[in-house]
Amino acid sequence: MADSPNCDLKSLSPLQLFERVTEQGEKVRALKAGKAPKDEIDAAVRMLLSLKLSYKTATGQDYQAGLPPKDLVLINNGTAKEEDEDLVDPWNVQTSNAKGVDYDKLIVRFGSSKIDTDLINRIERATGKRPHHFLRRGIFFSHRDMDQILDAYENKKSFYLYTGRGPSSQAMHVGHLIPFLFTKWLQEVFDVPLVIQLTDDEKYLWKDMTIEKAYEYAKENAKDIIACGFDVNKTFIFSDLDYLGTSSGFYKNIVRVQKHVTFNQVKGIFGFTDSDCIGKISFPAIQAAPSFSSSFPQIFNGKENIQCLIPCAIDQDPYFRMTRDVAPRIGQPKPALLHSVFFPALQGAQTKMSASDPNSSIFLTDTPKQIKTKINKHAFSGGRDTIEEHRKYGGNCDVDVSIMYLTFFLEDDARLEQLKQAYTSGELLTGELKKVLIETMQPLIAAHQERRKQVTDEVVKQFMTPRKLAFEF
Ligand code: TRP
Repeated sequence: MADSPNCDLKSLSPLQLFERVTEQGEKVRALKAGKAPKDEIDAAVRMLLSLKLSYKTATGQDYQAGLPPKDLVLINNGTAKEEDEDLVDPWNVQTSNAKGVDYDKLIVRFGSSKIDTDLINRIERATGKRPHHFLRRGIFFSHRDMDQILDAYENKKSFYLYTGRGPSSQAMHVGHLIPFLFTKWLQEVFDVPLVIQLTDDEKYLWKDMTIEKAYEYAKENAKDIIACGFDVNKTFIFSDLDYLGTSSGFYKNIVRVQKHVTFNQVKGIFGFTDSDCIGKISFPAIQAAPSFSSSFPQIFNGKENIQCLIPCAIDQDPYFRMTRDVAPRIGQPKPALLHSVFFPALQGAQTKMSASDPNSSIFLTDTPKQIKTKINKHAFSGGRDTIEEHRKYGGNCDVDVSIMYLTFFLEDDARLEQLKQAYTSGELLTGELKKVLIETMQPLIAAHQERRKQVTDEVVKQFMTPRKLAFEF
């Protein structure tokens, strides 16, 4: 045991420090229990105190047993979540507030940064394009290191985009499109390569589903993704089940990540327990690896160190906090991130939608009639109980799902503002507002269905074939 534990502590990440403190604490307890000589116990205690101090210096927090460093903690492991806090992790989204999750609080808790007007203006200057309405309306609201991506871009250094989807069922709903619609815009305005991971392995591990089914859903979902309009010359879509065995780079990176993350760490980040299957425990490395350009030698000409930008919903952040923690230790740049809010269920913003409840959302396969019925019957309304009251007091836009959906899908800023005002003042009734939403969604879904029909198995195959894209590296 080294006398001074400080020599190498600076190079440790907060999570590693956390573990060292935990181990040392266990050691002290064992020595005491085993009635070890006093000077041996004293030395171990000194070491423990010194480790705790390093931990505090590195994280700004006191060490607490069982509570890993805050910016890496997932809120769902019970210990870290306070009573009135929202629950947000890759598997759950829950809040008691009808307006939805408190995203400003989430930024503080996750330790990410707000996408503010300055950043949006900078994106506009860099690309010369009007910022997407998802940016203007705070739908993509949080980021990590986006300024670094822009610094590099302004210095003519390229980057690439990475996003993904867990193919849990054949049916995708409009909420699933949000990250893809935004990614498509990013691909267009920055003109960079894009990789899309379909985690069929993840869904097999987590759901009651055969491998074959998961793989089939991956290919079906790929059609909906392609129908968003991605450029086949600039986009590589891959199924984990397929690509892992054929790539010379992907699996190497997975193993690199696996070597640098302990079971304790994934327990802390994802809330895994001793009885979770080992497939789940090692899965985070598989979602991490596409953040490194060497996972795609065919696209990047074997180059490492091409920086990655990941647009995703905020619930995926735990995977990438882990990735960012590991990256410097395996000599790779940390991926940057852009986080979106959740798409609310028709029943209200308290929870994320579920693909298994057909009434919880509008599906990409819905007919115009189904869209109309669902919105009229299920879209939670911020209107008043009677017309008289509504006229007198007005509707509540903050909890009204039709207003929320229009914020996602009605591109015309002036029209949206006018609807909100008219609804708030009571001039516009709930039925009238729903009619606007129906008339917005019907053509949008119909157009998607039309484009999806054009996506043949042959087209899917093109997108999913490992190959060089239209970029030189
Ligand atoms: N785990 C994600 C899901 O269940 C899928 C995914 C894989 C992903 N890689 C990603 C999502 C990168 C966003 C960004 O949907």
